[in-house]
Amino acid sequence: MSDKGFRLTAPGLDKDGLELEVRSGTLGPDVVSIAPLYRQAGVFTFDPGFVATASCESEITFIDGEKGILLYRGYPVDQLAANCSFLEVTYLLLYGDLPNQQQLDDFLYSIGHHTMVHQSLLRFIDGFHYDAHPMAMVSGVVGSMAAFYHDSMDIDNRRHRDIFAHRIIAKIPTIAAAAYKHSVGQPFIYPRNDLNYCSNLANMFFAVPCEEYKVDPVMSEALDLLFILHADHEQNCSTSTVRLAGSSGTNPYAAIAAGISALWGPAHGGANEAVLNMLKEIGSVENIPKYVAKAKDRDDPFRMMGFGHRVYKNFDPRATLIRDMAHKVLGRIDGVDTPFFDLALKLEEVALKDEYFVEKKLYPNVDFYSGIIYRALGIPTSMFTVMFAVARTVGWVAHWQEMIADPKRKIGRPRQLYIGPEKRDLVPLSKRT
Ligand code: CMC
Repeated sequence: MSDKGFRLTAPGLDKDGLELEVRSGTLGPDVVSIAPLYRQAGVFTFDPGFVATASCESEITFIDGEKGILLYRGYPVDQLAANCSFLEVTYLLLYGDLPNQQQLDDFLYSIGHHTMVHQSLLRFIDGFHYDAHPMAMVSGVVGSMAAFYHDSMDIDNRRHRDIFAHRIIAKIPTIAAAAYKHSVGQPFIYPRNDLNYCSNLANMFFAVPCEEYKVDPVMSEALDLLFILHADHEQNCSTSTVRLAGSSGTNPYAAIAAGISALWGPAHGGANEAVLNMLKEIGSVENIPKYVAKAKDRDDPFRMMGFGHRVYKNFDPRATLIRDMAHKVLGRIDGVDTPFFDLALKLEEVALKDEYFVEKKLYPNVDFYSGIIYRALGIPTSMFTVMFAVARTVGWVAHWQEMIADPKRKIGRPRQLYIGPEKRDLVPLSKRT
């Protein structure tokens, strides 16, 4: 690397090679700008899974996977978790700085007054079979919001983008709760604007029309923490999906629906559901060695769900905070199923000492504990990833806003290494053997 850039020499290039610009961000590794590579050297870069590719510039979130650092707009996530509510963090992610009291009051008022969804949208939920996976319902209904709220949706108009942001963040808990109520056959509970974001969500989930329901403050506190920790995580699979879909200029509700679908997979947000299913399968502490052996066996597709992370290679800072909350919830909410938590803790202990997990730097991630908390709060397993989607909607919207507002924005269009047949001539059907 020279002072100015990165010099690439290769057959086909002249003797001085090709000077590629190296750019530095505020924090984190430099990037080599490879845009001239194809034009000047006729080659593409090849990086399946984007393990060494920065896909965009962003001011929102910074992660140092080696040191276990996660910053939202520069603030350490543990400081935010200790001092702010989820909607304060939402404001920070959307607008770049923490709100003052007036800004926060205005923001809370706006979110609080966009919580109802169009009545016809609820009929979409009714159209689903009772056992439809809630992620399928939520992604379908969010996508269909493009058909309901297109009146104020010029993506090049900042005010319209803001209305979209407030609408989707306010309505996603209502949609999540409607999907839940449909799956258990209970009447839909309308949002209550006198409750805070997480208490309103809990009320829509657990209240029934025939008796009074009071939200347990521990539940509200636990949800608020989980939502802060899940709110954003830079260019992960679902956020990159939202950016890629949104880069075509599509309706943003459609882009968010694409993100919800990407989140659903077990390697991403579906992991919290997969952890609980795995714990159910393991069943008891005696079976742990068998499952650890399965996870280590290259010929066995079984993976220890909730372990490992593409970016965090020492510890997941979110996991540390959430682990403490798991203890608090299990200690304070009556009637919770602690054997599951005991099994999880034992599994964590065994895996953390195991040579394979140590060597491959496989530590418990945020979703190892989030499912346990959701279960303790009485949220069914199939809803875990929906809860993640409610929180991550904030990150998706912040990234979508950042991308659309960028005057240099380009449609996302990766290239490929083609390994199919070479050009060949068609044989008419009558002559094919
Ligand atoms: N159990 C057993 N082995 C594992 C695991 C695991 N959970 N995770 C990775 N490995 C092994 C993997 O087999 C590979 O071994 P080898 O080098 O011998 O081929 C090595 O570790 C590296 O794995 P990788 O798949 O190349 O790593 P990745 O960075 O592509 O994958 C991951 C990251 C999160 C998809 C993966 O660790 C995984 O599948 N974990 C379980 C699912 C999970 O908990 N996902 C939630 C992530 S946190 C929430 C979120 O951000 O959405």
